[in-house]
Amino acid sequence: MGQLSFRWLPLAAVAASIGTTFAQPSPEVQQRISAAIAAAGNSTNIDYTAFVNPFIGTDNEGDVCPGASIPFGMVKFSTDITGYAPAGYIVDPTQKIRGISPMHDSGTGSSLGTYGNFEIMPLLCPGGFDTCTTTLQARERYRKNNTDDAYPGYFSQTLDNDIQIEATSTRRAGLERFTFPQGSKPYFVLDLANDLPATWAGGSMDIDPDNGRITLGGHWGSSFGPTSFNYQAFACYDLLNNGTQKLSEYGVWTGDTYGLDAKGLGQTHLNLSVNLIGGTPYQSGALFSYDGTPEQVNIRVGVSFVSTEQACQNAESEVGTTSFDGIVNASKALWNEKLSKIEIDVPNTPPNVTEMFYTSLYRASLTPNNATSETQGVFANTTSFYFDSLYCSWDTFRTFYPLMTLHSPVEFAQIVDNYIDGWRKNGWMPECRANNLPGWTQGGSSGDNIVSQFAINYHNEAQALGVDLNELYAALKTDGEVNPPEWNIEGRQINVYKQNGYVPFAVLDTASTGRQTREGSRTLEYAFEDFGIRQVALLLNQTDDVAEYTNRSYFYRNVWDKDVTSNGFQGFAQKRLSNGTFVYTDPIDCSSQDTNQSRSCSLQEDNIVGFYESSSWEYSWYAPHDTAYLIELMGGNDTFVKRLDYFFNEGYYLPGNEPSFQTPIGYHYANQPADSVDRIRDVVLTNFDITPAGLPGNDDQAAMATLLCFHLLGLYPVPSTSHYLITSSFIPKYTIHNSYLNTSTTITVQGYDAKSVQSPIPSGVAAYVKNVTVNGQVTASRCYVDFYDTFRLGGNIVIELTSNKTEANDCAGPLPASLSTGGFSSVR
Ligand SMILES: *[C@@H]1O[C@H](CO)[C@@H](O)[C@H](O)[C@H]1NC(C)=O
Ligand SMILES: *[C@@H]1O[C@H](CO)[C@@H](O)[C@H](O)[C@H]1NC(C)=O
Ligand SMILES: *[C@@H]1O[C@H](CO)[C@@H](O)[C@H](O)[C@H]1NC(C)=O
Ligand SMILES: *[C@@H]1O[C@H](CO)[C@@H](O)[C@H](O)[C@H]1NC(C)=O
Ligand SMILES: *[C@@H]1O[C@H](CO)[C@@H](O)[C@H](O)[C@H]1NC(C)=O
Ligand SMILES: *[C@@H]1O[C@H](CO)[C@@H](O)[C@H](O)[C@H]1NC(C)=O
Ligand SMILES: *[C@@H]1O[C@H](CO)[C@@H](O)[C@H](O)[C@H]1NC(C)=O
Ligand SMILES: *[C@@H]1O[C@H](CO)[C@@H](O)[C@H](O)[C@H]1NC(C)=O
Ligand SMILES: *[C@@H]1O[C@H](CO)[C@@H](O)[C@H](O)[C@H]1NC(C)=O
Ligand SMILES: *[C@@H]1O[C@H](CO)[C@@H](O)[C@H](O)[C@H]1NC(C)=O
Ligand SMILES: *[C@@H]1O[C@H](CO)[C@@H](O)[C@H](O)[C@H]1NC(C)=O
Ligand SMILES: *[C@@H]1O[C@H](CO)[C@@H](O)[C@H](O)[C@H]1NC(C)=O
Repeated sequence: MGQLSFRWLPLAAVAASIGTTFAQPSPEVQQRISAAIAAAGNSTNIDYTAFVNPFIGTDNEGDVCPGASIPFGMVKFSTDITGYAPAGYIVDPTQKIRGISPMHDSGTGSSLGTYGNFEIMPLLCPGGFDTCTTTLQARERYRKNNTDDAYPGYFSQTLDNDIQIEATSTRRAGLERFTFPQGSKPYFVLDLANDLPATWAGGSMDIDPDNGRITLGGHWGSSFGPTSFNYQAFACYDLLNNGTQKLSEYGVWTGDTYGLDAKGLGQTHLNLSVNLIGGTPYQSGALFSYDGTPEQVNIRVGVSFVSTEQACQNAESEVGTTSFDGIVNASKALWNEKLSKIEIDVPNTPPNVTEMFYTSLYRASLTPNNATSETQGVFANTTSFYFDSLYCSWDTFRTFYPLMTLHSPVEFAQIVDNYIDGWRKNGWMPECRANNLPGWTQGGSSGDNIVSQFAINYHNEAQALGVDLNELYAALKTDGEVNPPEWNIEGRQINVYKQNGYVPFAVLDTASTGRQTREGSRTLEYAFEDFGIRQVALLLNQTDDVAEYTNRSYFYRNVWDKDVTSNGFQGFAQKRLSNGTFVYTDPIDCSSQDTNQSRSCSLQEDNIVGFYESSSWEYSWYAPHDTAYLIELMGGNDTFVKRLDYFFNEGYYLPGNEPSFQTPIGYHYANQPADSVDRIRDVVLTNFDITPAGLPGNDDQAAMATLLCFHLLGLYPVPSTSHYLITSSFIPKYTIHNSYLNTSTTITVQGYDAKSVQSPIPSGVAAYVKNVTVNGQVTASRCYVDFYDTFRLGGNIVIELTSNKTEANDCAGPLPASLSTGGFSSVR
């Protein structure tokens, strides 16, 4: 699908057209997972990590990092591979490995990649020290095909020269284990300067041969943000494995691709500033070897965003002298704690569904990266929790945090604390923090929908969880009222938005700077952000604000041009001048039906379409808080449903693009919930599977993983509310544990038939929701439930299915809420 994949689309996942199948990873990975799933019925003590396939999403531009990480780990050890590999690793065996490094992000599509600093590469240098291949290009090597391996907490690859690389990690440190071919002398090149996006801005390195320790650090630039900002990072490499390994040679090197290949045996210090003339970045680092021909070499690595001293301390305190297997087991235990928050009936679930579900749940706790106590810049010394890689809030507010709401309020509160701290320190909440730096804004201040999601669902616990609701509200109000001087990186273009009731195109803005694009989609997103603020205003009895922000929640209507038609459908969102006149953009522009393959659709300054990474066809569905009125705008229920069908059938729907996430459940709002069930079966089974190419584009820091979790569970969230729509579970029975609330909620799907896990659903097979009871009480509607009536209480939810679609194609009670028809009139 999708010509969009040929454009520069850094964040929204796009349906790529590649879909090549490679024989990576090792076939044993899938065999092991399949065996574990088959054996699960016989086990009382389930190891959920055995169901996780870290390689899903490592092809087809899924950009998933399969590296070794603990939940929310700051360290994610992965090899760095040539070609398009933003997360370091990709399965494509025609690409080469240039080393393994301790820091990565998962699921971001920044073109060159993110992190990858402090890379180390094992070498065989038969000609000795001076002949070692140190530079990026010289040292890269193919993998030994079909040997890549990974599971939660463990990563391994073998080079075509038979050196095996393995890694395991703690939050800020880890162990690397290298196995060399018998009889060879182990050499290693360590890179000081390079990172994946080639942003080196200077730094230094010291080799302490007596203690077998190399400390290094410096400054680098953002992978998705202004190039004028730099962050600092440090690492500490301990080479002696608690005194069991002995260094032979050591020294420094520097090189380039034009003949520079210099080595300084015995030298221990490098201190390099930024290269002002530009060109290829510096290539420099350390080179060392070990005495004798040990088969295995263990190297301990610590990283820090504060100092080399702290990097060493992190290695000492988190790894110490624990063995490789000890760290692996500790990591697996942490993962089991996360994965067991949702326990499914494995023996009666189709094996592929089990694997997709636990792999998605795994990635739902892989990011953001917990860099608490590793803060720099304005966050130095903060007493708040601190998370790096909020990359980006526009991606994650829709499904990531609503899933976290169900089972992990403690983690959610820490991240909310971090958003509020962003407001304290920078003036606005973070939108797209990348590499500890503000990244580019996409829709507006989507963090508003994240913190309001927390407030609405956990206001009773907020204080105990360390979140001050008044402060949270003050942060929201700043996003909603105060125009930053520069809204490219945080906040919104509020002044002109408030004046006009929409973000005008080609407006004279004398007070703030930003890229004059995306006026249509920014208005739609701003309006939903305002709804988030409105919800918290309601919660806190801020009556005036409730009126004001309810009104602003309707601003999405102000970019609706009722006169625009496309493919026989009338009414589309369009950008608009400040005098009120709409500026026509063909609604198919930037869709998969667009015949212009080279049109700018992302953050480029010549994106004149009015929408971010989407067409008007796609974004015109976007008013999650007021779909009832959207239906009116589109001409009523029948037309709305026909238009939805057309949208999917013609390929305007982009399964990996965030604005499309909620469209498959649209039928619920026209009182045809069974049509959503058919649509979601199709969406899941056409676009997701258990192969490396099994994601339809960037995971976007588990935005897609959590979307898939919801689809498989038969639920779909309305962000900034406590509502979850009911679709149709792919799993016959599951329990969601919320240990903070001390509740467990079991959903039992009566009449579940594994044959329903196909598309189309065969006739006569039960899949449509007939009846929903919560702790014995029939629910008012079979289309949605409220968190307060269900998962907050615990107990049993029984969902009865029927094969009679006609019978089930009706909410049999209230439709999911919309603001303009009286929905969301109170918060719980
Ligand atoms: C599970 O236990 C049953 C009954 O003891 C046995 O027949 C079956 O082979 C076992 N399955 C696996 C995968 O171990
Ligand atoms: C691995 O497979 C790829 C694709 O077939 C091939 O280009 C490469 O040479 C192979 N690597 C080795 C070490 O055989
Ligand atoms: C590196 O050199 C700069 C000046 O060139 C100096 O200010 C800095 O202290 C040096 N850093 C280290 C770690 O040697
Ligand atoms: C590390 O070395 C010390 C001192 O030789 C020794 O007492 C200790 O047992 C070693 N630890 C491990 C895990 O090997
Ligand atoms: C953090 O604390 C250090 C040491 O007290 C101080 O030098 C630095 O200015 C502080 N940074 C910030 C941003 O508060
Ligand atoms: C983040 O790290 C801090 C410090 O170790 C810890 O207290 C906190 O629980 C961690 N949070 C998450 C979500 O992992
Ligand atoms: C808001 O008003 C309601 C109803 O009067 C009351 O129960 C609630 O405690 C108030 N909330 C706050 C935060 O003042
Ligand atoms: C708004 O401005 C545009 C461009 O100057 C102009 O073409 C249009 O007629 C104006 N509309 C109104 C309602 O004045
Ligand atoms: C759509 O159908 C629902 C439920 O049948 C009804 O309440 C609503 O008024 C209809 N909307 C329109 C615009 O006709
Ligand atoms: C499971 O997924 C694999 C890989 O996509 C596919 O070949 C197989 O048909 C799927 N099995 C089922 C039962 O859906
Ligand atoms: C729904 O389930 C309840 C409880 O089992 C039952 O009383 C009720 O008749 C059922 N309703 C329908 C429409 O099946
Ligand atoms: C399906 O349900 C509809 C509406 O309740 C009913 O009229 C129809 O007879 C049912 N069809 C079957 C095959 O039971």
